[in-house]
Amino acid sequence: CLKSAHTHEDFLQCLTHHSENSSISQVVYTTNNSSYSSVLQSTLQNLRFNSTDTPKPLIIITPNEISQIQAAIICSSKHGLQIRVRSGGHDFEGLSYVSNTLPFVIIDLTNLRAISVDAANRNAWVQAGATLGEVYYKIADKSRTVAFPAGVCPTVGVGGHFSGGGYGTLMRKYGLAADNIIDAQVIDVHGRILHRASMGEDLFWAIRGGGGNTFGVVVAWKIKLVQVPPTVTVFVTGRSLEQNATNVVHRWQYVASKLPEELFMLTILSKANSSQAGTILAAGWTGLYLGRIDKLLQLMEESFPELGLKKEHCTEGSWIESAMYFAGFPRNATMDVLLDRSYQKSNFKAKSDYVKEPIPETVLQGMWDRLKEVESADIILVPYGGRMSQISESSTPFPHRAGNLYKILYYVNWSEDGIEATQKHIDWSRKIYTYMTPYVSKNPREAYVNYRDLDIGTNNQDGSRYEEAKSWGEKYFRNNFDRLVLVKTKVDPGNFFRNEQSIPPLAW
Ligand code: FDA
Repeated sequence: CLKSAHTHEDFLQCLTHHSENSSISQVVYTTNNSSYSSVLQSTLQNLRFNSTDTPKPLIIITPNEISQIQAAIICSSKHGLQIRVRSGGHDFEGLSYVSNTLPFVIIDLTNLRAISVDAANRNAWVQAGATLGEVYYKIADKSRTVAFPAGVCPTVGVGGHFSGGGYGTLMRKYGLAADNIIDAQVIDVHGRILHRASMGEDLFWAIRGGGGNTFGVVVAWKIKLVQVPPTVTVFVTGRSLEQNATNVVHRWQYVASKLPEELFMLTILSKANSSQAGTILAAGWTGLYLGRIDKLLQLMEESFPELGLKKEHCTEGSWIESAMYFAGFPRNATMDVLLDRSYQKSNFKAKSDYVKEPIPETVLQGMWDRLKEVESADIILVPYGGRMSQISESSTPFPHRAGNLYKILYYVNWSEDGIEATQKHIDWSRKIYTYMTPYVSKNPREAYVNYRDLDIGTNNQDGSRYEEAKSWGEKYFRNNFDRLVLVKTKVDPGNFFRNEQSIPPLAW
């Protein structure tokens, strides 16, 4: 306690010293501050990490000037404090606000969220604390025929999301968010502000998919905007088990990755309990077509008649309306809803897999059996192919390109608090993951770094050695893992930026 009190005071003095021209005390929250808990909880997305047992930061800093981030890095390094960088707080394992290595400091970028869109030149600068909803809003405010290919949940932060790849409904046409970044502003371990030209191509490569909290603090991204037609179509349809859902899901596997790249169609297997309808097990298909309804219906009739898509399942509108639709907002909602940072929070656990060969129908039936065992869970199948297969595996650290039919997200959420409920649901996720082993990618069993899963392996408290980290690192990055280690060794040899799944430097 005494040690931590000293560290605390010395650290605060250091911050003040290194940010003479800014009132840093106004953005520093210690445990004595009455706003400490509300600031900590503000963007904490997974309630599993909101218990009294969860390790808490010594200090939270919410910089509103870049110099304050520099001060936080320099002083944390000087006083041996771990840092956690938080942008949108959506990390599946809470790594942006929880650390088992104590004491630690959170640098929360929520106040650094400026977005400037240059629609004529089709690019924008976006600060890391902005959410996807804010980015989409600002782009649409300037033009309805440009967009950005990133995730569907508007409250996700661009700081973490772009650092791990970032996919959404435009993925089959334009790739990931990380594929469309053209410059960045980063603060390195020495507190220096770097841009693409000064950081060099290796570091610029690593930050676009190599995972957050590893190479430095990203302050802003420059993104390339993409063209979308003035009218696009969204659609949704579903089948219960009795309506032959399994058979249609089975067929979807052969079709979804080969469809034209203008068409993105998810499959969702879900289990939900409703007070009116009781327990529901159903498959749903929802998607975006970059074109009009008549063309979509013709395409589906030719390539996937088993789905029986009809005009009444489809709605035309602008791309920004499609973004609101995928975020779950009603059709008559105004664009302002995208600026709302409050998203329904829950306890959850998730895992991911990649599928290279269609899964037999009997195995799909087994997935339904496992869904029956929990109160509420989704298994989401995300189609690949299109642009994703054209981008080379080493173009960014995100390696899951040609050869993948689709990705699976296993997602279970629950409302009860407590260790027992948590353990029960984590066990469920592990059980279905084990069940799927023979039918998904192997050597390595691939996973998506933005769907962080500590079950696949972690660094030890001081950071791992190369060999240990390779076991989980290859799952996220395949052959790009070694290059990430070399970049890390060059830019942060002392492993200052680290967490349970950050890339270690060599000889650490
Ligand atoms: P958060 O702030 O928690 O950061 C995540 C990681 O990046 C942490 O390790 C953090 O330290 C680090 N980090 C954050 N900011 C940084 C910065 N400025 N510099 C350096 N490191 C930084 N994914 C997807 O691809 N498509 C989707 O549609 C969705 N949808 C979705 C919905 C919901 C409800 C959740 C909870 C998550 C998703 N995701 C997703 C996953 C999401 O992309 C992933 O969790 C991102 O890392 C979240 O980024 P945040 O900035 O919000 O998280």
